[in-house]
Amino acid sequence: MARTLNVNGASVAVAAPDDTPLLWVLRDELKLTGTKYGCGIAACGACTVHADGKAIRSCQTPIGSLDGVKITTIEGLGGAHPLQIAWVKLDVPQCGYCQSGQIMSAAALLARTPRPSDGDIDAAMDGNLCRCGTYQRIRAAIKDAAAAPAVAAAA
Ligand code: FES
Ligand code: FES
Repeated sequence: MARTLNVNGASVAVAAPDDTPLLWVLRDELKLTGTKYGCGIAACGACTVHADGKAIRSCQTPIGSLDGVKITTIEGLGGAHPLQIAWVKLDVPQCGYCQSGQIMSAAALLARTPRPSDGDIDAAMDGNLCRCGTYQRIRAAIKDAAAAPAVAAAA
């Protein structure tokens, strides 16, 4: 049975069964390939997207649980989010594979805590792994973005 999801502000019909993980629908059906598959067991954060603004692991979220939920993917940030600007400015990525998930976790953090402490950053980013070890640049970029006028104004 077709189901309607709200993804990046648009209603989209998807044909997959209700128990299909959101990640599969995003990548295979909707061709939103910015969200990555890492572990498939909610242990790496590569597949992080937002559900009503909260960071979730799309590999472990069945689409049947998403009625009326606004889903945002890395494509939905638009490319000029303060975090994306900071990521480029500080040259954060190495291989890049984990980075959309990192940015989505950080975006959910800044939306609820515009001036995060080191502890806030640790707590929000704890489940996002980076095999390349870019953690220090990620932390610096989150702080840089938090100082951006649009984010600072919300503090
Ligand atoms: S792929 Fe979802 S947490 Fe690793
Ligand atoms: S940049 Fe390579 S895994 Fe994070």
